Amino acid sequence: RSFLQILGRTTLITVLLGAGGFYYISHRDRHPGPQLPFDPEKKTIVVLGSGWGATSLLKNLDTLDYNVVVISPKNFFLFTPLLPSVAVGTLNPRSIIQPTRYMTRHKRRQVSVIEAEATEVDPINKTVTFTDTSEIKGLISTTTMSYDYLVYGVGAEVQTFNIPGVQQHACFMKELGDAERMNREFMDCLESAAFPGQDEKEIERLLHMVVVGGGPTGVELSGELHDFLEDDLKMWYPELAGKIRITLVEALPSVLPMFSKQLIAYTESAFKESKIDILTKTMVKEVKEKSVVLQKPDKSIVEVPCGLVIWAAGNKGRKLTQDLMAKLPADQTNRRGITVDDYMRMKGADGIFAIGDCTATSYAPTAQVASQQGGYLARMLHLMARQDSLQDRLNKLVKAKADLGPPVVLPDGAVDEHQKLQNEINDVQKQLSKVKLRPFHYSHQGTLAYIGSDKAIADLPFMNGNLATGGVATYLFWRSAYLSTLFSLRNRTMVATDWAKVRIFGRDVSRE
Ligand code: FAD
Ligand code: NAI
Repeated sequence: RSFLQILGRTTLITVLLGAGGFYYISHRDRHPGPQLPFDPEKKTIVVLGSGWGATSLLKNLDTLDYNVVVISPKNFFLFTPLLPSVAVGTLNPRSIIQPTRYMTRHKRRQVSVIEAEATEVDPINKTVTFTDTSEIKGLISTTTMSYDYLVYGVGAEVQTFNIPGVQQHACFMKELGDAERMNREFMDCLESAAFPGQDEKEIERLLHMVVVGGGPTGVELSGELHDFLEDDLKMWYPELAGKIRITLVEALPSVLPMFSKQLIAYTESAFKESKIDILTKTMVKEVKEKSVVLQKPDKSIVEVPCGLVIWAAGNKGRKLTQDLMAKLPADQTNRRGITVDDYMRMKGADGIFAIGDCTATSYAPTAQVASQQGGYLARMLHLMARQDSLQDRLNKLVKAKADLGPPVVLPDGAVDEHQKLQNEINDVQKQLSKVKLRPFHYSHQGTLAYIGSDKAIADLPFMNGNLATGGVATYLFWRSAYLSTLFSLRNRTMVATDWAKVRIFGRDVSRE
């Protein structure tokens, strides 16, 4: 057989196997089997949130051990790392979300998913009160539920530092709705600038985009905006594209303080090349409807006209978290968030575990940390369930032995009922001693960020040191890393298809 024939046959077999595997997984994902019902004998875990921490917990939790209830105002998981791509239309919003039920329906015991916002946690009576905050409500929209264990994973909200005008005039970059809003407002600025007879100064203002915060969110968003401008807007708005300006404002002396120095320098020079202005040591003091007020490094104040302000200045604890902490004043004093021990147990509370951005730990508030904590907690809860069931068995055996009365000595070394029970007790005690709860250990997989123009930067742990890399190859690594981290085949397919669509047809510039 010729080489070409062999190659053709191998390719055909690979394609058929790939298609078969794809069909099998997608069919399996869409057809979950029957589930066991709630078991009144089991303890109840209430999970607050459906973000990185909670979703990783749910994915890894063995629901045979517990009854599980998930409460979150969003009935989906949001893959935040790709949110800036949604803001410029590279990705479809639906491609980076995964309904929570798509996962919980595959668990062995049924999981109750409730779309509601927890409004109060009572750590003394072990209850949580929650409300349906959506537009359409039924007759009942608030109720209270008891828990044996509460997994608290409500994340954080946007930090505005109470700076005037931020809440009213700036776009955030935290939720799916924020990215969609930014996309709409950005396109609105362009269309308003294109309005006939628009004054030149007003065009300049409308086309000036100010990104506040030089952390990874602000940097990635600036990079994505620049791509949109270069790849698409130059084509469809040739008269305006040259006038679009992107300014990144950062209060600290440099952007991306969590990255190594050479990658900071690399990003700054890449931004310079892309004509993205970086203003460091500059603090936003106020956001107005048509401008931002900046304090420059020499402390002077300037007012800069702009069309859009995107606020990416970090996180702060939610009100629910502050209220919960206030109920445990002796143990919860850290203003950054919930204090937990090495086992993710909230200090001062019985049965509450806190994971992710709502906690104050030595780790950065990242998806990587939250998902590892969620996975760890699932394993720990499994061990706790095993401990409980062994302890239960032990108690029953000890009681049965006590009920037997004094031991009877049998001839010829025969084992009496007493001895049988004692052997069983010894066995259970041995098994119990083997169940060890180990503290949480974080394994850092590296830090990655996209900086636009098909370039990414990465600080990766390498042979007990750090490998700092940036450029196009890192960008391909960034893409493949995020593609593989997406939670489902469905999301992976949708994101890969969106990327391909944008390569072929470009981004959509219609304003929804
Ligand atoms: P979240 O994922 O925020 O989840 C919180 C959940 O709680 C949500 O489902 C929310 O709806 C729910 N909730 C809120 N209020 C209530 C309530 N009252 N009751 C019940 N539920 C509630 N990290 C990385 O490691 N790598 C990245 O590349 C990266 N990129 C990012 C890009 C952007 C744009 C953003 C905003 C963040 C990024 N992060 C990244 C950080 C990462 O998203 C967070 O650290 C991570 O989401 C924290 O997980 P979490 O589970 O604690 O909170
Ligand atoms: P951040 O807290 O990392 O950065 C916010 C920045 O805004 C800070 O550098 C701060 O100095 C600046 N700032 C605050 N107030 C300001 C003001 N008034 N004027 C000017 N600048 C001001 O926040 P970000 O980027 O939202 O990230 C939050 C968390 O999510 C971080 O832990 C980050 O590591 C993680 N994340 C990780 C990503 C990645 O790994 N690629 C991407 C996005 C977020």
